[in-house]
Amino acid sequence: MRNPRAFAAPLAVGAPSPPLEIPVTPARMIHFFDPSNEKMAGKLPELAAQCDILLGNLEDAVPVDRKEAAREGLVRLGREVDFGDAALWTRVNALESPWVLDDLMRLVGELGDRLEVIMVPKVEGAWDIHYVDRLLAQLEARHDLTKPIFVHAILETALGVTNLEEIAAASPRMQGMSFGPADLAASRRMKTTRVGGGHPGYRVIEDPDPHDGDAPRRSAQQDLWHYSIGRMVDACAATGILPFYGPFGDIADVPGCEAQFRSAFLMGCVGAWTLHPRQIEVARRVFSPDPEEVRFAKKVIEAIPDGRGVHMIEGKMQDDATWKQAKVIVDLAKQVAASDADFAAKTGL
Ligand code: GLV
Ligand code: MG
Repeated sequence: MRNPRAFAAPLAVGAPSPPLEIPVTPARMIHFFDPSNEKMAGKLPELAAQCDILLGNLEDAVPVDRKEAAREGLVRLGREVDFGDAALWTRVNALESPWVLDDLMRLVGELGDRLEVIMVPKVEGAWDIHYVDRLLAQLEARHDLTKPIFVHAILETALGVTNLEEIAAASPRMQGMSFGPADLAASRRMKTTRVGGGHPGYRVIEDPDPHDGDAPRRSAQQDLWHYSIGRMVDACAATGILPFYGPFGDIADVPGCEAQFRSAFLMGCVGAWTLHPRQIEVARRVFSPDPEEVRFAKKVIEAIPDGRGVHMIEGKMQDDATWKQAKVIVDLAKQVAASDADFAAKTGL
């Protein structure tokens, strides 16, 4: 049992109170950069102007002999670079690794006032979040931070998926979750070497023609990730945190990336990771609501000011529930329009 009144109390003397609301600003792309790359400093201002979130990655993809260079690079970049309106996040190393303790100690000490969210990989249960939660409170107190740092879990092990509701509810610091298809595939022993997206072997096929056993049969690829993304979206919506799709590894396959991002968006995700500048524009377009859908949703809201009763609009039945659907689209559109002039012009918001 946990005393519900303690949930909103700091976990260390002198730490700021935990956040009771999470920031809801556009988070269409979390763009990953390697802070051990010396050339990054020059590129970051331009990337920041295009991205909602920039994330300095310390975990997988950073070679073991560059772990410290990445950590120190992030400290330097976080201090020197002007990120404009883009939020600065990091992905620290996994909790069982030899680097994570120094990642947290060093980054909170040096960048605690600039880091909005710490992404924790390979979270398996609420206990992982509790550990990070208490440690962050101790470090915030030690460094006199006044603003609490948020935590974001990557869902990328079978145990993590099994426990995802408890993970989502583990702390008021929880800002969101990302879906990690590469580690998850390995953890589940799925037989794919792809990072996200579909697989030509995972498909349904129509029945044979009873009159012609040799006739070709239509068949279509299915979505390998639907079940787990659906569970993640429900757990996040139920606890008021934000779900994200993670990486799409085939950088050259822009239509494949777009399809994966769009399925996630339609299911309720707010954004995705981008691993290459080419994917940034895709995420911006896909995770901003469709202007035609915005037009219709605005019409529904204007036509039904009290959101009640049954109405016909453009031949489609509208009622209290569809009014709420329209509100989801218009609220997101207003949020995006506030920081994206092109989108504001396209939607008249
Ligand atoms: C991301 O970290 C993944 O494993 O897909
Ligand atoms: Mg991973």
